[in-house]
Parts: sequence; C-alpha cells; structure tokens
Amino acid sequence: MQAIKRISQLKEEIRRLRKEKGDGTVGFVPTMGYLHEGHLSLLAAAKKETDIVVMSIFVNPLQFGPNEDFEKYPRDHERDLKMAEAAGADIVFLPETSEMYPRPIKTTVSVAEVTERLCGASRPGHFDGVATVVTKLFNIVQPDKAFFGMKDAQQVAVIRRMVDDLNMNVTIVPCPTLREEDGLAMSSRNVYLSPEERKQALVLSQSLRLAEALIRERSASPDEVRRRVEEHIRTAQLADIDYVELLSYPELAPVQPGQMPPSVIIALAVKFGKTRLIDNLIIEMGNSHV
Ligand code: PAF
Repeated sequence: MQAIKRISQLKEEIRRLRKEKGDGTVGFVPTMGYLHEGHLSLLAAAKKETDIVVMSIFVNPLQFGPNEDFEKYPRDHERDLKMAEAAGADIVFLPETSEMYPRPIKTTVSVAEVTERLCGASRPGHFDGVATVVTKLFNIVQPDKAFFGMKDAQQVAVIRRMVDDLNMNVTIVPCPTLREEDGLAMSSRNVYLSPEERKQALVLSQSLRLAEALIRERSASPDEVRRRVEEHIRTAQLADIDYVELLSYPELAPVQPGQMPPSVIIALAVKFGKTRLIDNLIIEMGNSHV
C-alpha cells in the first residue's frame, strides 16, 4: 500500500495501477480518518466491487463551522495507515490542507433543498463544504465507484443528487451503518464520550427502534412519532436534542399525516456534553435497514 500526499503523484499512481490491471476499475472511500470498523466495511465493499482501492484521509476545514471541532477532530495517521493496509487499500491519499486548498477557494458546490433540513439546518455551510471537497476528490481520483456510510444518510442524499445533477461519472454505493454490539452507531467522534455519556448515548439506537415500531404500526402521526422519540431520548439526563425528524428519503421532505411515503428516514442529532452524535434509520415500508 502506498501513502501519498501530493495530488500529482496520486494521479500518476492511479494511472499506473489502472494500466497494470488492464484498465482496472477504481473504488474510492473518502474519509476524515480516525478509522473504525465502519470505514473498514467501506474498504471491504470497495475491494469486492473494484480492482484498485483508494482511500482519502482529509479533515476538510471547509465543512466545519467556526465553533465546531475542526481543531479537535481526532487524528492518528500512523494507526489509520496500518488499518487501511490490513483492510487491503492500495493507496491512501493524505493531503495537507495547503495541497487541497493552495489559495482561498472561490468556487464551491452547493446542493439545494436536500440540504435544508437536519444537519444542513443545524450546521450552516456544512454541506457546501462536503459537496465541494467531494467534487475536488472525485476530480482528482476519478473513481468508477465511491463508497459512503449510511450513518450520514443526508450526506449520501446530497452527494447522489450532486452526482446526478452534474452528470459526474461515478456510481455512489451507500453502505449500511455499522454498530457496536449494544447498538451505538460507530463514529470517530465516539472517542470524545465519557463513560457515562457513552452509556446514556444508547438511547439513540433505542429511540430509532421505538420509532420503527410506531411507524410500522401506522398508529401514530409523524408528530406523535417525533414526540415519542424525543420523550425517550430525554430519559437520558445528559442528552441535549438538536433535532429529531421524520422525513421522506432520499428527498428529505416532511411527511404529511396519513401519507407515509415508500421510504422514510427517522433522523436525529443529540449532544452529550460537547459531543454531537447523529444517527438514523431508513424504513422501507416492507423491510428496513440502518
Ligand atoms: O463523511 C466524511 O467523512 C466526510 O464528510 C467526507 C465525505 C470525507 C468529506 O470530507
């Protein structure tokens, strides 16, 4: 496996490997590092579906607000490289900020509507930062397929819409959320949690299951589902709710009472101390996945 910091060298190496593998396909896993099993499952999917696997590790300043955790975001390149190599990545791209943004950026990518709610509303500018860096990374890597975790379901909806609207030549492959044994969705930010916060954070996955039962019974209105989920989350004293929403997926439009769309998302963001966690469950009326 190669660790590469320069864009020019990365392009060169991908070109070489593609040729070596007889016009091989490239699978791309963009990350911000501090890898966990969830990231490794994306690498595994990429390895299964494509010939050359490229992972990027870049904490993108453009997608963090002024009071967010950009500086504090956990970083451990040495550990990440070992994990990526063991998982079979061919290349890890770890650019410095100056490599990705050599001068103040004047061109950004902005996706309307699907970014209006959930994290788009709580984190203004966040998805412009994501869409812009993902566009840059797609242009650099030129992958055939790119793999994203569904824990960030809104991010997947935004990127799919962007790829479709702008005729980008890449297939987006959404991959299921990986969870700890007790149900907590895996996230690099989980390391911030104190033992007590970690324990109380279990209300998130529990409340999603509660929502699923209520939605499947079709006995509760969207407002009632939201209220019951919030009520359950509040049983954890340290939980501070940012949002709980029930929306259609992938449009992310409000669900009208009595009109359950074929696919809905129950999405939540909750702070425990300084740590903001997100989680969601997508329910296809018939079967469900997280
Ligand atoms: O999901 C992430 O880790 C980031 O938002 C991404 C897609 C790597 C863009 O910085």
